Amino acid sequence: MLCNYYDIALDAGDEAFSVDASNVTFGPGCLREAGDVARSLRINRIAVFTDDVLAKTEHVSVVLDSLRAAGVDIALYDNVRVEPTDVSFKEAASFAADANVDGFISVGGGSVIDTAKAANLYSTHPAEFLTYVNAPIGGGIAVPGPLRPHIACPTTSGTGSECTGIAVFDLLEMKAKTGIASKLLRPMRALIDPTCTATLPANVVASSAFDVLSHALESYTARPYTQRPAPAAPSLRPSSQGANPWSDMGCAESLRLIGLFLERGVTDPNDVEARHQLMWAATLAGIAFGNAGCHVPHGMSYSVAGLVHDFCPSGYPQDEPIVPHGMSVIVNSPSVFRLTSPGNPDRHLDGARWLGADVADIGPDEAGPVLAQRIVELMQLTGMPNGLQGVGYSAADIPGLVEGSLPQRRLLDNAPVDIDREILTTLYEGALSYW
Ligand SMILES: NC(=O)c1ccc[n+]([C@@H]2O[C@H](COP(=O)([O-])OP(=O)(O)OC[C@H]3O[C@@H](n4cnc5c(N)ncnc54)[C@H](O)[C@@H]3O)[C@@H](O)[C@H]2O)c1
Ligand SMILES: [Fe+2]
Repeated sequence: MLCNYYDIALDAGDEAFSVDASNVTFGPGCLREAGDVARSLRINRIAVFTDDVLAKTEHVSVVLDSLRAAGVDIALYDNVRVEPTDVSFKEAASFAADANVDGFISVGGGSVIDTAKAANLYSTHPAEFLTYVNAPIGGGIAVPGPLRPHIACPTTSGTGSECTGIAVFDLLEMKAKTGIASKLLRPMRALIDPTCTATLPANVVASSAFDVLSHALESYTARPYTQRPAPAAPSLRPSSQGANPWSDMGCAESLRLIGLFLERGVTDPNDVEARHQLMWAATLAGIAFGNAGCHVPHGMSYSVAGLVHDFCPSGYPQDEPIVPHGMSVIVNSPSVFRLTSPGNPDRHLDGARWLGADVADIGPDEAGPVLAQRIVELMQLTGMPNGLQGVGYSAADIPGLVEGSLPQRRLLDNAPVDIDREILTTLYEGALSYW
């Protein structure tokens, strides 16, 4: 793939991009390496983070056995909340502060990995909770220094959180999702064992794969780094630096794999090849968006998740309504890509082709609608909700959804076209239903 941005640099744009490489081990059975990795990081006592579903699975027992065999002391926290909140982050941080550990290992989906990042942060650099939370909701204060080593072991083929410096949570008093973003939050190591996907409920495979699809499409169509203002100092260049040649490679392959394996991986739990390839797609997209940044579908998703009414999808805990992260993103994506396509139609067309659409006779004007239609087809094939109405919203909710997503400037400003209140309203209207 050519490094094709030099010719479009603006005067004020950045001239370089940075690659923060993730330290990843990928392969069936690699969870058995946990003890050795912990020892190599000089961890003597480790906090093991997981949730109550995973605590009963072989994935967690393999990790615990490996740590014990390596002589590492364990402090187990199996109380992670699925789709964490400020309250659940604080509980986890308080556990970590008391546990007297010199490292962390998370075994679970994005909820578990993000909770371990937050617990590591607040127990290493204690502060009032909103201090490090993204502005304008929080103080946006920089993390003051390195954290303790964190080994992340993802068990969903989705978030890529093991490769990013982001921890996402629901701020309950504002009914809005937000996050903490710092390169220092990125786990030091990742053990990505695709055999974990065998026990995933179909709806979790689908929801997390659509998260992957949107990570890759958003990073690939993001405003390129050459069209974003250069940072005040090179050390301040954000992870969310815009599309760049490094992230492009991961996005392309990830989208190709999603196009080939999404339906198979969701509909047949015994299709080992499809499920393993979806895990690799998630890893590639995580590496990519960890160095490029998402844009509008994710920016819109935060209020779709935060304002949930009564949606309780199968495969997820049933005690409280939730819109799982991947669903809260993908209900927006077709509406967004229809509108952002004029910003870089060739890239929208690439995305459609990699996802399996026939683009032979499609011109630039049709790139957005064709890409949107291909995403909608994949949603229908895998039982995803039909837009915002499918997760319980109506037109009357749109002003609140807009209000909740407007503060997400880090994401909205990464889009290839300018996004304001009026455009966000149009985007939510377009996302109400698709079929
Ligand atoms: N930090 C980041 O970069 C980043 C990126 C995207 C999303 N996120 C966040 O990650 C969270 C979503 O994470 P997720 O989609 O990975 O799912 P999740 O961690 O919320 O888990 C979803 C459900 O699947 C179950 N589960 C997980 N792995 C399983 C397995 N192998 N077998 C059986 N059940 C299993 C869990 O117990 C849970 O009930 C959201 O809070 C989202 O905002 C973070
Ligand atoms: Fe995501």
